Amino acid sequence: MDDRPIGVFDSGLGGLTAVREIRSILPFENIIYFGDTSRVPYGGRSQEILLKYARQDVHFLRSFDIKALLVACGTVSTTALPTLEKESDLPILGVVEPACRRALAVTRNKRVGLIATAASVRSGAYERTIAAMDGEVTVIARACPLFVPLVENGRYRVGDSVIETVAREYLEPLKAEGIDTLILGCTHYPLLEEVVGQIMGPGVTLVDSGAQAARQLKASLTERDALCGRRQGSITLYASDITGDFGALAPQFLREPAPGVLEVDIDKY
Ligand code: DGL
Repeated sequence: MDDRPIGVFDSGLGGLTAVREIRSILPFENIIYFGDTSRVPYGGRSQEILLKYARQDVHFLRSFDIKALLVACGTVSTTALPTLEKESDLPILGVVEPACRRALAVTRNKRVGLIATAASVRSGAYERTIAAMDGEVTVIARACPLFVPLVENGRYRVGDSVIETVAREYLEPLKAEGIDTLILGCTHYPLLEEVVGQIMGPGVTLVDSGAQAARQLKASLTERDALCGRRQGSITLYASDITGDFGALAPQFLREPAPGVLEVDIDKY
């Protein structure tokens, strides 16, 4: 039994989709979330800058006595995770491996699509991970750089002509490839589930990478006998820049009321 909190971070709001899943399957855990809102989006940045940001994010969360850390950011998971893991004595989980496992479990025709940020697609991490698990699966990847800014601005609903136009442009070529499974490789994208589902149609199963990572977190805590013994869990939200949008959108990402957001100067870490 371990009552210490779990640390979770992302560039912005997206990682709250992973927190939503943690809350649903591990409701008694305390979660400390950090959204790097002063530097979002991460998706177009270089590997060096992403590693620098990720190290600061980890350093901040480790200033709390956390028992595990979930990198609820596809971009950091695909670029910096191996280095973060090497540098840490704490269990650190990312979203890539759990999402790939799920995609392989659901694909029937072995044609798997991936949508993610430019940095994630450039990294080739999903292709490498899937190839190591099943050499017969073809991965067709597409970077969707406009999705994160649109979601962070609340433009993710069905009927919003801007997001629908952008999504059609990104997704129609993937649909034409005959994929039957689509990995949402960025934790902002589950907010777009309806828009994406409408374009891809019922024959394509969507894989939520943050939710899959949350399930792996549960398995890992269970295996280490590190679940908490309390009967009530909490969420504490930190951001590196407090904007009205973060507070206003957080409940929609979490699908529950959100606590007030606390500001942190991430440059100090
Ligand atoms: N949620 C982040 C991810 O999963 C978004 C990255 C960004 O800020 O561009 O990749």
